Amino acid sequence: MKIEFLKLLNFRNYERLEVHFSPTLNLIYGKNGSGKTNLVESIYVLGLTRSFRIVGDKTLILDGKNACKVEGTVKQKSKNVYTVLLSKDGKKVQVNHNKIAKISDYISKITIVLFHPDDLRFIKDTPSTRRKTLNISISLVNLDYLQYLNRYKILLKQRNAYLKQMMMNGSLSSDYLNILTEKLVDYGIYLYEKRKLFLESINKEIGNFYEKIAHVSGLKVEYLSDYDGKNKEQILKMYQNSLQKDLSFGKTNIGIHTDDLKFLLNGKDLKDYGSEGQQKNAIISYKFSELEIFREFTGNYPIFILDDLFSELDEEKVQNILKLLKSEIQTFITTTDLKHFVSLDEFSYKSFYIENGSIVREDEHERRRK
Ligand SMILES: Nc1ncnc2c1ncn2[C@@H]1O[C@H](COP(=O)(O)OP(=O)(O)O)[C@@H](O)[C@H]1O
Ligand SMILES: [Mg+2]
Repeated sequence: MKIEFLKLLNFRNYERLEVHFSPTLNLIYGKNGSGKTNLVESIYVLGLTRSFRIVGDKTLILDGKNACKVEGTVKQKSKNVYTVLLSKDGKKVQVNHNKIAKISDYISKITIVLFHPDDLRFIKDTPSTRRKTLNISISLVNLDYLQYLNRYKILLKQRNAYLKQMMMNGSLSSDYLNILTEKLVDYGIYLYEKRKLFLESINKEIGNFYEKIAHVSGLKVEYLSDYDGKNKEQILKMYQNSLQKDLSFGKTNIGIHTDDLKFLLNGKDLKDYGSEGQQKNAIISYKFSELEIFREFTGNYPIFILDDLFSELDEEKVQNILKLLKSEIQTFITTTDLKHFVSLDEFSYKSFYIENGSIVREDEHERRRK
């Protein structure tokens, strides 16, 4: 998947921008605050219709304007024009200028893997952050996943509400609760299996990537779930055993909504034992693994965005990471300094110098392989 042409209108500090990208590597450089992240953010918005930064959609609109537009020509087997329009009245999406009524039908058409410094949250934050990130990834490779997840969330709400009612009105029958529980478990098992499969695929790759970046072996992700190693009958039994607790809390204490995952380096949890550098390398390895999994599941590599990756990494790691880039994967890298790339001669690339929300210089570099 490659984005050939991008057009921005009133997006962040870009009043107007039209740019043709390289199908291989695009280096976006410039001083801090010039608009490098904004540019890659717009590509992310084109695919996912929202930002990776934790902000409301309105902050994406250029100050003082009412609406913004991101439009891109994306080539996979065929070429299509994708459009995301944001205004105070909401969000609209189009493919080839035809309106798509449901945003969920639009998302997942353009697959993107992104690294951003805030991604360290994936290790440091709460289980809920990790589940959210995992859900987004899996839903991009499995189109049914989001529907199952939404059904699960609705059932969970219903079950929790009924538990509260039962607690207040002791005479309520548990038949209805049992029906809800069984349905919840059916959806839960589906989601559990997809998560397990996805993380197993990550584990086939992540150790290798980590070793190539950090020269240390033994990185794995571990999936933690109440459902692990149990069949449906055993899972239902678990809910029975938890019933008193569920009633007294008025909520469902077990299930895939409490799942978590850990990054283990030779058995040690990076959340508690890892340095910031190790955590960063683990996340980058995870992202490189995702590229391979997306290709395995969908037949195509996604677009790869590395925002501000090189700040705080030593030059050796930076060079190790650059060696992992593939010319078949369209990659966008933001950086304040082009010096990291002087020895990059494996494939052609384009560089863009950004100043105050415009591209003031654009260069094409030819492959220099002996
Ligand atoms: N909605 C907006 N309207 C106008 N300017 C914006 C908007 N959002 C962010 N900016 C500006 O964009 C700049 C930051 O751009 P960013 O891409 O994050 O910089 P960097 O090049 O360091 O990655 C800041 O100057 C900020 O004021
Ligand atoms: Mg930035």
